[in-house]
Amino acid sequence: MITTNIDKAGDVLNQGKLVVIPTETVYGLAGNAFDENAINAIFSLKNRPKSNPLIVHIKSLEYLEKVASHIPEKAKLLAAKFWPGPLTLVLSKKPEISDLITAGKDTVAVRMPNHDLTLSLLNKLDFPLVAPSANPFGSISPTCAAHVMHYFENELEVVLDGGDCTIGIESTIVGFEEEEVVVYRLGTLPLEEIEAIVGSVTLKNSTSVNPQAPGMQERHYAPNKQSYLTENVDQFLMLNSLDNVGVISFQSEILSPRISQQIVLSSKGDLKEASRNLYKAMHQFDLSSVDCIVFETFPKVGLGLTINDKLKRATTQKQ
Ligand code: TXA
Ligand code: MG
Repeated sequence: MITTNIDKAGDVLNQGKLVVIPTETVYGLAGNAFDENAINAIFSLKNRPKSNPLIVHIKSLEYLEKVASHIPEKAKLLAAKFWPGPLTLVLSKKPEISDLITAGKDTVAVRMPNHDLTLSLLNKLDFPLVAPSANPFGSISPTCAAHVMHYFENELEVVLDGGDCTIGIESTIVGFEEEEVVVYRLGTLPLEEIEAIVGSVTLKNSTSVNPQAPGMQERHYAPNKQSYLTENVDQFLMLNSLDNVGVISFQSEILSPRISQQIVLSSKGDLKEASRNLYKAMHQFDLSSVDCIVFETFPKVGLGLTINDKLKRATTQKQ
């Protein structure tokens, strides 16, 4: 059932079952982080490999000490600046954190989400919530309750409806190796904003660069429809004989007889607005009658770099 009742959600979680929670980034499929049955249920519902670790969602900055055994100064600075918000920190784990959550690693990923409903829920619980995005493994992340229902309608007792995600793109994941600050996943929070607090960071966001960062599959966030990414949609359509095309463009409408549907993500060219609309547009075209989807590359700055990384993964062909 879709509800805004956090008492109901709390009851279900206390029984060891799963609940979908809204966050500012994407919806999460949540369970008790201290209950291995609940954690196993998350992996099996998502069909997610156990080698891909989960993020622990906590209610406060103070609670971080219950999850992490060591918190570097730079991590403290980042958490103080950006929590609650779209930043996930990878830190040495406390022994109480299950190996199932961390895929056997000695680090745990943790964040404090910025959503009133979910923070109120976390405050009612005496455990944190593990929550991957609420989509089957590899597919597009949900940014509203309807997306979740499309994936898991019959499998869930409670979907907590917090409206449309205000950001609509996953958190940025940051870790600490020796004294180095390392970014494992590009996300909502741009590198520039992180560097303004802790100085320069190293990007290790592909399995080829960093086999330690699971979940950085080359194909991810992918629509079911055949999808392409190009800097110049017009030229791409002239060079490739595609028909019944759905185009997702950044700012400007593109005119071509090959295009049967088009979504302009932000006519005023605002990266945040465009990012918020991106997954929704992908879901919409996946369910529509278009035969394929052509994405226009985003401007290569700030959040645009994150989106281009996601679009590259979304348009990587199935092996
Ligand atoms: O915005 C978000 O982060 C959303 C919302 C629901 O919080 N969550 C999310 O979770 O995107 P998920 O499971 O789709 O992605 C979690 C990522 C995976 O790529 C995983 O490999 C990485 O976090 N991760 C988790 N623990 C890690 C660790 N110890 N070291 C490196 N990467 C880790
Ligand atoms: Mg995900």
